[in-house]
Amino acid sequence: MNLIHVSLGSRSYPIYIGPSARVALAECGAGAEGDTQVAVIADETVASLHGQRLEPLLNLGHIVITFPPGERSKTLEQVEALHRRLAAARVERHAVIVTFGGGVAGDLGGFVAATWLRGVRCIHMPTTLLAAVDAAVGGKTGVNLPEGKNLVGVFHQPAAVIVDTDFLDTLPARDFTAGLAESVKQAIVRDAEFLAWHEATAAAVCGRDPAALAHLITRNCELKADIVAQDEREAGLRAILNYGHTIGHAIERLLGYELRHGECVALGMLVENEVARARGLLAPSEADRIRDLIARLGLPLQVPRPLDAPDVAAACRADKKVRGGAVNFVLIRGIGAPVRVADVTPAEIAAALTAIQ
Ligand code: GLY
Repeated sequence: MNLIHVSLGSRSYPIYIGPSARVALAECGAGAEGDTQVAVIADETVASLHGQRLEPLLNLGHIVITFPPGERSKTLEQVEALHRRLAAARVERHAVIVTFGGGVAGDLGGFVAATWLRGVRCIHMPTTLLAAVDAAVGGKTGVNLPEGKNLVGVFHQPAAVIVDTDFLDTLPARDFTAGLAESVKQAIVRDAEFLAWHEATAAAVCGRDPAALAHLITRNCELKADIVAQDEREAGLRAILNYGHTIGHAIERLLGYELRHGECVALGMLVENEVARARGLLAPSEADRIRDLIARLGLPLQVPRPLDAPDVAAACRADKKVRGGAVNFVLIRGIGAPVRVADVTPAEIAAALTAIQ
């Protein structure tokens, strides 16, 4: 099992990665021998597929509360429903909430943990690649509003993250591939060598080779832990992780969350690279290199149905990355060279959308 440490002073925590990593629940005080009250907040599908492997490891009195899978569960109504289940079960302040599922479980369950009784401990057990490489680490929690994605949320660092790679076995191909987008994103903004590794090992990664997968998850967690330790609340450095996300979130919302988040991030990177290329920031060869990798990994290269550019520009303005009315974008000048800009115009967005279609 690999162990990574997120250094945040009193809010520091471990990330356990590997097959059967779920046994680390005991070390986190949520195990069968412990007397901590445990509430599992789980995606319905994940609970039915993997609940039986998890439950014997949890203390006898634990409860499991499920919610319907998918981004559409990230609502304040669902938060209230989960709070009321915790109230019915008399879950106390010293309890630990274990989130079990993909990014939605972590965002939604983490927000419930952050707000229940003014905040209880939380352990994330991501079961999708996307959550394992990105969403579960760093303490972002939140839900969506009709007006935009993740508009309501708080930072609430988990007490631990447990990435049990056994749970990835049942991950559908489309979700697996979507998770790769966040890995490519993090490599592009932070680690040129890791990007080259993606290119060299794309076939092994797509074939879910265990060693390749272990490296992919571990390296992402190391990179993310380093960024979060330097900038927990996204005052500066952490914002580079939003590369691909300003346009990606807009596409995701305009398509009514019918695409996976990772698919939208891939499209967002392509569109944002076209903006950078048109500005002369990004060499065409680098933009093409990224496009080739996205294609080889099986991620989408085109938005499935045409979106009106003014709608995309308007959706970007509803993003939480707006400051003083200006929309923040992360463009890249090259691999490992992100640059933050706030002056991308609707006309540039329109031209970039046309360029990828
Ligand atoms: N998903 C980007 C971040 O955690 O900052």
